[in-house]
Amino acid sequence: MAKIEKIITSSSEETIKVGMDLSKNLRKGSIVAFLGDLGSGKTTFIKGVVKALSEKKDINVNSPTFVYLNIYDVKIPIYHFDLYRIKDKNEFYSHGFEEYFSSNGICLIEWSENILDILPKNTIFIKMTHENEQVREIEITNAF
Ligand SMILES: Nc1ncnc2c1ncn2[C@@H]1O[C@H](COP(=O)(O)OP(=O)(O)OP(=O)(O)O)[C@@H](O)[C@H]1O
Ligand SMILES: [Mg+2]
Repeated sequence: MAKIEKIITSSSEETIKVGMDLSKNLRKGSIVAFLGDLGSGKTTFIKGVVKALSEKKDINVNSPTFVYLNIYDVKIPIYHFDLYRIKDKNEFYSHGFEEYFSSNGICLIEWSENILDILPKNTIFIKMTHENEQVREIEITNAF
């Protein structure tokens, strides 16, 4: 049965903290798919995950909108995708990106709406909703 958890945050710092907490559940091979509009806080959440796994390194986290993928060399390698400009699964496959699903790292995927039907069964979904300027609803669905 999927477990669904809803969290409300009132600042980017609180969202970063939720990302840091989630990182404790991530292992090699984990896949986290983010859903939600521009500015809903996906990258902010990912900053928290990277911060928690980066030990003492200071890693710069930005949406890889134009390059599609950032790789962070932290405790477990992180593959940070932004698929805003990827139209569909065929374009995703044409870059060979599905290889990362079965890699030794963690995949964090912004704009996963564009490849929903090819996400593996173990994918954790994080749906972010913009409530107002500072408030976001974060819905986490654990598929195990
Ligand atoms: N509660 C909150 N949680 C997350 N971000 C917040 C919150 N309140 C305000 N913000 C601000 O909202 C913006 C969220 O931007 P962010 O880049 O994380 O969004 P995104 O979903 O990755 O957008 P994009 O689809 O363009 O990549 C930031 O400027 C952040 O400071
Ligand atoms: Mg982003």
